[in-house]
Amino acid sequence: MLNSVRVRLTLWYAGVLALVLVLFAVSTYKLVALQVEAGMDTALLETARAFSEAFIHEYHEHRDQGVMVSTKDDAIVQSIRQFHFHDRMMIVFNDSGQLVAFSDPPFHSVVTAQVAFPQDAPVISPSFLESIRFGERAFGTFATVGGEYHRVCGIHTEIEGTTYVLAVAQPMREQEVMLRQIRNLFGLGWSVALGVALWGGFLLARKSLAPVVAMSETAAQISVANLHERLPVKNEKDELGQLAQTFNRLLNRLNQSFEQQRRFMADASHELRTPVAIIRGEASVALSQAERPAAELRESLGVVHTESLRMSRIIEDLFLLARADAGQQPLVMTDFYLDELLEDCLRSVRTLALQAGQTLAYDHPEEVFFHGDEGLIRLLVLNLLTNAIRYSGPQRRICMALAVHPETLVISVEDNGSGIPAAAQPHIFERFFRADKAWSRTNPEGGTGLGLPIARWIAEAHGGHLDLVKSDTSGTVFAVTLPFNP
Ligand SMILES: Nc1ncnc2c1ncn2[C@@H]1O[C@H](COP(=O)(O)OP(=O)(O)OP(=O)(O)O)[C@@H](O)[C@H]1O
Ligand SMILES: [Mg+2]
Repeated sequence: MLNSVRVRLTLWYAGVLALVLVLFAVSTYKLVALQVEAGMDTALLETARAFSEAFIHEYHEHRDQGVMVSTKDDAIVQSIRQFHFHDRMMIVFNDSGQLVAFSDPPFHSVVTAQVAFPQDAPVISPSFLESIRFGERAFGTFATVGGEYHRVCGIHTEIEGTTYVLAVAQPMREQEVMLRQIRNLFGLGWSVALGVALWGGFLLARKSLAPVVAMSETAAQISVANLHERLPVKNEKDELGQLAQTFNRLLNRLNQSFEQQRRFMADASHELRTPVAIIRGEASVALSQAERPAAELRESLGVVHTESLRMSRIIEDLFLLARADAGQQPLVMTDFYLDELLEDCLRSVRTLALQAGQTLAYDHPEEVFFHGDEGLIRLLVLNLLTNAIRYSGPQRRICMALAVHPETLVISVEDNGSGIPAAAQPHIFERFFRADKAWSRTNPEGGTGLGLPIARWIAEAHGGHLDLVKSDTSGTVFAVTLPFNP
């Protein structure tokens, strides 16, 4: 169940909400509790002060009038009588912490020290009384023997050298009831809010994830057979719309690469079919004639030889490209003199150029040491040179140059032929592309259109690039740029 994003989202959402609600409830409750306590304390302090004043007044009045009630303790008893609270209890202690008198709220009676403390009075600790004697006032919470909590405010009062501690106590029953109600209310509210959050969160998560589910269902139905299908994009700007667009772009790329592969396969079989057909034709003609002159047989065998050479070249090129595509064509990296390698390539194509009445020139610096795959670089350069010889036409001039820059090497091959038609230029690096397919197919000199794609791959495998620099009626220039670290 936890594997569902919907459930996880809901749980996270509800969890965070529950935590926030708990924090809110606890802090609010604490605040209310403090307020209640502060309100109670203020009221109790006022009562204690009024009681103190009444007591002092009572004592002086009786003493001045010479009435029989003249002792301080009697004045206390008299004062207590004047304070009739149904829920507050006055308790008076003397200097040495002994109980002098207290009021008994239910009966509004005053009890003097001779009587023991009643069960319903809070048991005030001696340390609390001590703290009042030295401070101005003190507040505390004390329980009765029966366990009922009272809030107590104590002050001290001095009359003619005698110190008394006056304490006013009030049961916290009502406040406790109120706080309990608040607690219950918060508990109930919390549970209801959590329930609503779980339910609402689940609905919300389900609604927001519905497009993802729809997307995944559509995506599951897309296969090689219907790669042209796309995911619906409801809102291009939101995250899910962007996800769908990204997915669609991926499908576009996949479709393109499948298309490329398909075309590649079709082109490859088409290219192989022609030499195979020629070989078969020659062979069946040779076999059908029992008595065939040796010269004709040799001619047929010559054709078979040429076509099989062409086939094996195509197969080798295809094999190289297939391995390159799969990232499995290893580079055999060695250190060699690039200037010498280029000179070597030039020597290999010299005869070809001479046959076409072309001149070859080579411009290069001394000793350029290079680290790379010698065989592949040779293949690259030979293809550029043979292209220039093949396609520029007779009596042309072909120049190869090697230029050394601080971080790069540039090998350029230039001819002054009639150039590649403008419409064909963007396609020359595509597999099996030839500007003049008909010529290439029928002419034994013609290639298969794999040379430049292979050359470009070789340049890129060395961290460089191969570009068609220019091609117009004045000629064509190809440049290979390779990273170079002397
Ligand atoms: N220097 C050039 N001048 C004119 N056209 C060129 C030149 N180089 C390449 N081309 C054109 O680009 C096409 C693709 O070249 P590429 O080397 O890939 O294939 P190819 O030479 O036909 O066959 P392959 O190299 O496999 O034997 C050529 O068929 C040709 O039409
Ligand atoms: Mg070529």
